[in-house]
Amino acid sequence: MLLLTLLSSLCLLTGASPTAPLAIDTFANITIYNPNDGTRPWYARTETLANGTILATWSSASAVYRSNNNAFSWYPVGTIESNVEGRSLVQPHLLLLNETIGDYDAGTVLLAVNAWDNSSTNIELYGSQDSGETWEFLSTVATGGAANTTNGATPVWEPFLMVHNGKLICYYSDQRDKAHGQKLSHQTSTDLSEWGAVVNDVAEATYTDRPGMTTIAKLPNGKFILTFEYAMLRNPTDNGTSNYTYPVHFRIADDPEKFDLEKSQRIIVSSGTQPDSAPYVIWSPVGGVNGTIIVSDADHNSVFINQALGEGNWTEVKTPAARSYSRELKIPENDVNKLRITGGAEYGQQSSAQVLTTVMDFEKAVNLSK
Ligand SMILES: *[C@@H]1O[C@H](CO)[C@@H](O)[C@H](O)[C@H]1NC(C)=O
Ligand SMILES: *[C@@H]1O[C@H](CO)[C@@H](O)[C@H](O)[C@H]1NC(C)=O
Ligand SMILES: *[C@@H]1O[C@H](CO)[C@@H](O)[C@H](O)[C@H]1NC(C)=O
Ligand SMILES: *[C@@H]1O[C@H](CO)[C@@H](O)[C@H](O)[C@H]1NC(C)=O
Ligand SMILES: *[C@@H]1O[C@H](CO)[C@@H](O)[C@H](O)[C@H]1NC(C)=O
Ligand SMILES: *[C@@H]1O[C@H](CO)[C@@H](O)[C@H](O)[C@H]1NC(C)=O
Ligand SMILES: *[C@@H]1O[C@H](CO)[C@@H](O)[C@H](O)[C@H]1NC(C)=O
Ligand SMILES: *[C@@H]1O[C@H](CO)[C@@H](O)[C@H](O)[C@H]1NC(C)=O
Ligand SMILES: *[C@@H]1O[C@H](CO)[C@@H](O)[C@H](O)[C@H]1NC(C)=O
Repeated sequence: MLLLTLLSSLCLLTGASPTAPLAIDTFANITIYNPNDGTRPWYARTETLANGTILATWSSASAVYRSNNNAFSWYPVGTIESNVEGRSLVQPHLLLLNETIGDYDAGTVLLAVNAWDNSSTNIELYGSQDSGETWEFLSTVATGGAANTTNGATPVWEPFLMVHNGKLICYYSDQRDKAHGQKLSHQTSTDLSEWGAVVNDVAEATYTDRPGMTTIAKLPNGKFILTFEYAMLRNPTDNGTSNYTYPVHFRIADDPEKFDLEKSQRIIVSSGTQPDSAPYVIWSPVGGVNGTIIVSDADHNSVFINQALGEGNWTEVKTPAARSYSRELKIPENDVNKLRITGGAEYGQQSSAQVLTTVMDFEKAVNLSK
């Protein structure tokens, strides 16, 4: 790793192949954050700023860390507090604003969270104008009842942000509709202050179905893929509500505000592995005309890929990264053949946990999987 860095620096100094992009280093399980107190950080998220600095946060999202060397070492940079006393900020999603929306210029870092306390869940938006050091509350997207996964309770969960057509879209999981144990919804804003009506993305016909945990990626054919855990009762006649299975499903739509019209498809992997729970999807340009759709789940070290824009079977690709609940995938913008995987605790983990990140040679791993 040090050698690679040295060689890269030498190339820079000698001016060798100035147009060739420099490869970034690969490594596994680098610690971003170790709470050292037995607590279990979970649900990690990162975002890359225009100058290459990477920010990271996790649940509870009170600290923001920063790396200036392609995710190899990390330092605290800022803190975020709820605007309402006593609320924890969990299930974060970071997004660098890439264009002006309302009064907020490109370069603003946005953070969507679930701000919860004993009596409510709240999808809230915060913003930073100084690359993650200080944060201000911008708006509340949606408010629900106390955190409670029983059907009939009314919380909201798990926001995901995307800019599209000059608007910010905030996707989230939604238990407030009496017709659905849980569904996936979104709302849009043109000023980061006011939010439009609740629009369904995935609302299945069976009441006890609980689609959850939206993430979205744009495909090279202009379509969008939304992955979700499709929580459904193992035994449909057992309506005791607790015996669920969470196979990862997806929908593909031309318009990321119109997933509701599309059909849910299960990810079928040739190896027979069933991706399960807390998925995260991205698209990589590796792999020819269609590039590669990459999905992480919560239960496997592997990721699952599709090089036919979502059609047909998926392939399992091994990674050196630890498993974790809602494990984030990112393509490093300065080396698109690589894949960065970031996660905290596994679901239900009892032992202490750290936030870990891995950068792997994805192109090589895909070729090995063939
Ligand atoms: C990027 O900008 C931030 C904020 O100004 C600065 O702290 C950081 O060091 C910069 N990163 C790099 C890699 O230069
Ligand atoms: C929230 O609930 C916990 C556990 O029941 C309790 O210890 C805590 O005091 C409550 N907090 C508030 C602000 O009511
Ligand atoms: C969770 O929600 C269910 C359904 O509304 C309710 O019966 C139960 O009392 C709630 N649990 C708690 C701890 O409030
Ligand atoms: C910002 O990102 C969104 C989503 O990727 C994209 O549709 C939009 O064109 C981008 N805006 C600019 C100015 O690049
Ligand atoms: C869950 O449902 C499956 C399939 O009906 C059954 O085999 C299993 O025993 C159930 N588990 C529990 C904890 O009820
Ligand atoms: C649960 O199933 C039983 C038997 O099928 C039915 O009588 C009951 O109404 C169901 N309860 C709910 C809440 O769906
Ligand atoms: C797809 O994968 C499944 C196993 O998960 C296998 O049974 C099936 O034959 C595969 N289909 C194709 C077309 O390869
Ligand atoms: C690209 O995707 C299409 C389906 O959308 C598929 O028919 C085609 O075989 C794919 N191309 C390659 C090179 O995998
Ligand atoms: C990363 O950590 C996970 C979990 O401890 C482990 O399974 C995996 O082997 C580690 N990777 C490497 C390359 O050591």
